[in-house]
Amino acid sequence: MDFRQLVEEARTCRRFHENQPLAMENLEWLVDCARLSPCGRNAQELRFIIVAERNKCLELFSLTRWAGALKDWGGPHAGERPTAFIAVLMPEKGRELHYWDTGIACQTIQLAATSRGWGCCMIQSFDHQAVPALLEVPADMKVGLVLGLGVAKEKRVITHMPADGSFTYWRDNAGVHYVPKRSLDELIIGRF
Ligand SMILES: Cc1cc2nc3c(=O)[nH]c(=O)nc-3n(C[C@H](O)[C@H](O)[C@H](O)COP(=O)(O)O)c2cc1C
Repeated sequence: MDFRQLVEEARTCRRFHENQPLAMENLEWLVDCARLSPCGRNAQELRFIIVAERNKCLELFSLTRWAGALKDWGGPHAGERPTAFIAVLMPEKGRELHYWDTGIACQTIQLAATSRGWGCCMIQSFDHQAVPALLEVPADMKVGLVLGLGVAKEKRVITHMPADGSFTYWRDNAGVHYVPKRSLDELIIGRF
């Protein structure tokens, strides 16, 4: 697949085929892709916790918040929940570099997942006390982002920004998820 097409398809996914769990070896493959990603100083200080066990997934799911902009939807229903999570950990006293590293690792995982037809949702809105306790995160580390994963079940498409400039994503009556993106002209503010 052309790389731009992959990037375009790699939309946040929030509904999954819960009856098609991802195998541990597939989840390890995703982390292996992140392992090869660039990071500041090449210090490789991020760590990863994979959650695939069903009950642990459900517990972790209950500590996460999904699609705050979709006011009439409280997150994926039973049967459409993620079948796995990957928590991305950084040092407790994480500096800017660690946040950038986390973003790069997460985007790499999201692209890798998309390349295999899986969906991914990066989640920053989670219980920052309860999640580390549940995952037995070492005291000198903290959770940067949690990735919800599974076989993608929802259609997500990019659309143009509306005239009023609203960047809020929305769904139509058929459940298709639309994500407005600014034009290239709006983003490139200098050419020398
Ligand atoms: C750093 C970061 C944190 C995010 N946190 C959440 C979250 O807590 N819950 C959620 O449902 N989506 C979360 N998202 C997904 C964004 O809402 C999503 O990326 C945005 O709506 C654009 O959609 P797209 O990813 O399809 O381009 C997060 C994304 C990023 C990059």
